[in-house]
Amino acid sequence: MKRIKVRELLTSPVPGSEVLVKGWVRTKRGNKNIVFIAVNDGSTINNIQVVADASAFSEQLLKDITTGACIAVNGRLVESQGQGQAVEINASSIELYGKSDAELYPLQKKGHSMEFLRENAHLRFRTNTFGAVFRIRHSMAFAIHKYFNDKGFFYLHTPVITGSDCEGAGEMFHVTTLDLKNPPLNDAGGIDYSADFFGKETNLTVSGQLEGELGALALGEIYTFGPTFRAENSNTPRHLAEFWMIEPEMAFYDIRDNMDLAEDFVKYLIKYALENCREDLEFLNNMIDKELLARLRFVLENSFVRISYTEAVAILSAADRKWDYPVGWGRDLQAEHERYLVEEHFKKPVILTDYPRDIKAFYMKQNDDGKTVKAMDVLFPGIGEIIGGSQREEDYNKLLERIREMKLPEKDMWWYLDTRRFGTAPHSGFGLGFERLMLFVTGMSNIRDVIPFPRTPRNAEF
Ligand code: 4AD
Ligand code: MG
Repeated sequence: MKRIKVRELLTSPVPGSEVLVKGWVRTKRGNKNIVFIAVNDGSTINNIQVVADASAFSEQLLKDITTGACIAVNGRLVESQGQGQAVEINASSIELYGKSDAELYPLQKKGHSMEFLRENAHLRFRTNTFGAVFRIRHSMAFAIHKYFNDKGFFYLHTPVITGSDCEGAGEMFHVTTLDLKNPPLNDAGGIDYSADFFGKETNLTVSGQLEGELGALALGEIYTFGPTFRAENSNTPRHLAEFWMIEPEMAFYDIRDNMDLAEDFVKYLIKYALENCREDLEFLNNMIDKELLARLRFVLENSFVRISYTEAVAILSAADRKWDYPVGWGRDLQAEHERYLVEEHFKKPVILTDYPRDIKAFYMKQNDDGKTVKAMDVLFPGIGEIIGGSQREEDYNKLLERIREMKLPEKDMWWYLDTRRFGTAPHSGFGLGFERLMLFVTGMSNIRDVIPFPRTPRNAEF
């Protein structure tokens, strides 16, 4: 007999039919005569109730069916006598796949702390909260591909190992096969990377953008969606050392087109979640964040505010507020400033543009004022920066000048510069942090709880 998933059983039940269900025991209760077992198979947040007549099963088997155990149940689907579920299974046979020692299984009690569940990330998928989060994560990944595919964008795979530092922040994990205890040295006494695996110094990518631009300047509109790595030592609820980023890159888009796409894209994803992840979102709204659904709808229904960095600095300077970090033109905005703009001043998502060029990456298109660049950051309530992007500098000479000013390795960037030498074009793009989006969509408060296996400073367990 073919196994049926609980989700299917509950969405289109056929009372009277014989079914086979397989899953993990969430709870067991009952008495000498009758036993009720709640089984979850991960396909939905809801459990199926299995009812077993105690006289029809061995005492030992019923004893071994404890929280966490895995079972297969054959039986008849019937309308439930009890409250809380429409249908249940009258078990005719139960096979025990795997026992779960009640003394040792970590997920016995209800209401574990998020910290405890992080330490048990190998088992936390079996909780309602993490089941919901990771089903939503899947749906968001699927929706991202659907959005771009429907728009005619091409999914471009950019390398995980690269020799360049897109953001120029030097926050890279080195990739090497050299013997760290005894590396080959060059004449100057430094490490001789020409003897390394790739014959040069390499690292894990911080962004697929530079390679993405190469794709966009031939295929028109592309997007990347892959893991990116930053060795920044920030232990915050918003930073991971390994996170997933979606980076669309579009030929012939200016900064305004770029903002329009970013707003449309994020709204599409939120709408998709509301339409396709209803039960999981309702659970999170009840258990994690009572304002979640209202906030998702609010973002859908309102236009994002668009102002320049210079205007933002004026608002922040005029605010009656003591900042931990000073506000001033030319200084980068901190999370406290971004959140003030979004959560208190405008009470809406905000897109900030035209940042001082000295606090932004080399590739951003310079404005005529000689001071600012066509950057855009999208700021979200509860999150801060969710998207960073820009129109790109397409002028070969201006780009080269900037690379030299910033003392970037010009020699290694020949291929990037070539796009500006041969058929350059106005183009733009942005990066959406997948886990920042997940924080927003799920209402979870720590980024470690929206990625299955978080990588953060001093933590690479599992
Ligand atoms: O603003 P960032 O650094 O921009 C770029 O990497 C550009 N190359 C993107 C582009 O234009 N194609 O990063 C983009 C987004 C941020 O807005 C944030 O959402 C996320 O990536 N992000 C992080 N998410 C989790 N942990 C970190 N350490 C992150 N750093 C950036
Ligand atoms: Mg940024």
